[in-house]
Amino acid sequence: MNMFWLLGLLFYNGLFLISTTGTGASTRPDIVNIGAILSFNSSIGKVAKVAIEAAVEDVNSDPAVLNGTKLKLEMRDAKLSSGFLGIVEALQFTENDTVAIIGPQHSVMAHVISHIANEIQVPLLSFAATDPSLNSLQFPYFVRTTQSDLFQMAAVADIVSYYEWQAVIVIYPDDDHGRNGIAALGDKLADKRCKISYKAPLSPKLNRESITNSLVNVALMDSRVIILHLYADWGLEVLDVARNMGMMGSGYVWIATDWLTTVLDTEPSLPSKAGDSIQGVLTLRMHTPDSELKRNFVSRWSNLTATRTDKDPFGLNAYGLYAYDTVSLLAHALHDAFLSQTENISFSNNPSLSEFTGGTFHLDALSIFDGGKVLLDSVLQVNISGVTGSIKFNSDGNLIHPAYEVINIIGKG
Ligand SMILES: *[C@@H]1O[C@H](CO)[C@@H](O)[C@H](O)[C@H]1NC(C)=O
Ligand SMILES: *[C@@H]1O[C@H](CO)[C@@H](O)[C@H](O)[C@H]1NC(C)=O
Ligand SMILES: *[C@@H]1O[C@H](CO)[C@@H](O)[C@H](O)[C@H]1NC(C)=O
Ligand SMILES: *[C@@H]1O[C@H](CO)[C@@H](O)[C@H](O)[C@H]1NC(C)=O
Ligand SMILES: *[C@@H]1O[C@H](CO)[C@@H](O)[C@H](O)[C@H]1NC(C)=O
Ligand SMILES: *[C@@H]1O[C@H](CO)[C@@H](O)[C@H](O)[C@H]1NC(C)=O
Repeated sequence: MNMFWLLGLLFYNGLFLISTTGTGASTRPDIVNIGAILSFNSSIGKVAKVAIEAAVEDVNSDPAVLNGTKLKLEMRDAKLSSGFLGIVEALQFTENDTVAIIGPQHSVMAHVISHIANEIQVPLLSFAATDPSLNSLQFPYFVRTTQSDLFQMAAVADIVSYYEWQAVIVIYPDDDHGRNGIAALGDKLADKRCKISYKAPLSPKLNRESITNSLVNVALMDSRVIILHLYADWGLEVLDVARNMGMMGSGYVWIATDWLTTVLDTEPSLPSKAGDSIQGVLTLRMHTPDSELKRNFVSRWSNLTATRTDKDPFGLNAYGLYAYDTVSLLAHALHDAFLSQTENISFSNNPSLSEFTGGTFHLDALSIFDGGKVLLDSVLQVNISGVTGSIKFNSDGNLIHPAYEVINIIGKG
């Protein structure tokens, strides 16, 4: 076979493609490439996908935002929350001179990709990675465009101390999302002179047997207040096992973090089976104030899902609102950083990779976004109104005004 074609195939199938590096774009580009990494089939991801696409259209059809420049969005389906595939996807974006990546959705992946974002200086704007430890100075290019679980755990600790419960049991996936969320809860409970009396970690590769084994241990404990910090996509399974083991009756208190409202908001017609096992559970939801922007978006939702998905329509959840605003705030930041100024969008070679020149993976082709720092600063300076309310970051890099609603599930509401 012709060597040229062989190489071509290799590049096409391979992970890293050669990018056009070192070319300075003109001052007013016609398009700006942005990427997004989410899990299309998850409760958060399918809602976010529709919201992000709608937001890009809204930005592109409103000349007041980017003054004619268009956002060009490339979305990738991270089917699993695997860190490795996230790396591959993030690196692929460098091929098309992507200036920012929306996502990733999962905190586990955010930890891994943040290292890459630091290196190529491309801001990551995650609307769903809530692990509090992602705010650290270690990850300057990670921007959380949703609320940190630090605030959610403060709310949970408030509930626990309000009812004067002394000790709680926690059930969580044993990964970055679970462990770091629970660590924050431990700190917040300690502030209220309460504590975690037993931790029941679950394998992130979940099956019913391992849930049952964990819950058997939980049932042996003295404390009857159980906090569930899980994922929307399998949290109900844990409650179902608990119901089968007779642990949903009186005497137990179950508090679910916002994964449960995410499921309920997304799937309004939950099977009646799940309906039984969630009775009496307390849960939280990120609170977004009522506004005209929010009402308009909510009223467009059924149209948006009907035209964009061939599957059953699904409801809008809080993460969908934050996903929409992530695009708006990025567009405003791009405008402030580049399009209203003489600053150019350009990429250059990464000198620390020059020793990898040649080689099958072409690592030397990974380029650095020269304006990355400027864009990052501009993102953190944004001050606009969105569907989630005022969008503005405080000096810790958290969105202002974190607030949660507390919901007690009784009947169907
Ligand atoms: C931006 O690009 C224009 C034309 O390509 C060039 O004249 C100008 O010096 C560049 N500005 C910066 C800040 O690099
Ligand atoms: C999507 O998720 C649903 C339930 O969460 C599952 O039944 C279905 O098989 C998934 N589809 C794909 C393509 O993964
Ligand atoms: C929009 O771009 C045009 C030229 O492309 C420029 O004359 C005009 O001032 C810009 N408007 C804003 C609001 O930046
Ligand atoms: C780069 O852009 C091309 C053309 O729009 C597209 O086919 C390709 O999938 C993009 N690659 C990535 C990694 O986004
Ligand atoms: C929904 O779509 C239909 C047809 O495209 C349109 O007439 C209607 O105004 C839309 N409704 C909303 C609330 O956007
Ligand atoms: C942010 O915007 C609001 C309303 O548009 C304004 O009142 C406030 O002063 C702005 N804050 C900063 C720091 O610019």
